[in-house]
Amino acid sequence: MTLTESATALPLHSATPIEWGRAVLAEPVRLLIDHAFLEKKAASNAMELLTRWPNEWLEGWVEAMTGVARDEANHLAQVTRILLARGGRLDRHHKNPYANDLRQLVRKGEPVELLDRLLVAALIEARSAERFGVLAAASSDAELAAFYRSLFQSEVGHYKLFLNLCRKFTAADVLESRWQQMLTAEARILAGQEPGPRIHSGVPR
Ligand SMILES: [Fe+2]
Ligand SMILES: [Fe+2]
Repeated sequence: MTLTESATALPLHSATPIEWGRAVLAEPVRLLIDHAFLEKKAASNAMELLTRWPNEWLEGWVEAMTGVARDEANHLAQVTRILLARGGRLDRHHKNPYANDLRQLVRKGEPVELLDRLLVAALIEARSAERFGVLAAASSDAELAAFYRSLFQSEVGHYKLFLNLCRKFTAADVLESRWQQMLTAEARILAGQEPGPRIHSGVPR
């Protein structure tokens, strides 16, 4: 399966045009800094979810979360290495309005709170995968293109993993209708983001 074919297999409700990739790649160091924070957040989010299993102990839960955290820490190490080699460095602080907006979708009270948190994680993984696919296609820099291609596969695996965990404690019809609502909201939230050298930025108008 090619990257484009696998990207169309993603469940997302909007598709990122190649022009977005070309625009954000005009500032590769700033894009790498934003990307590093995304990986850091993904790792700490998995650690945070580790002790939030549903009422019933779920087999494989801790293994799933430690696996994601380990992958994301590896991605963070990789992106930092590329960033430093290109003369950049991490900032101390970082803003991610896209993720903040998505977090507003999380309903309070269990079990829906955990379900929504896992679905938000799945959305971020699926969108990140899609964006890495576009970046791999848009990049004329061989190192970056190969890096983004490898991340695409990994983040696809993560989005499926989060969704599969939801299946373990949510009825199929309840899960499907909430997932579709979330996908619709995600496309709207992404479309409302400002353009700029960020993984989850808006498309230049
Ligand atoms: Fe990652
Ligand atoms: Fe991930």
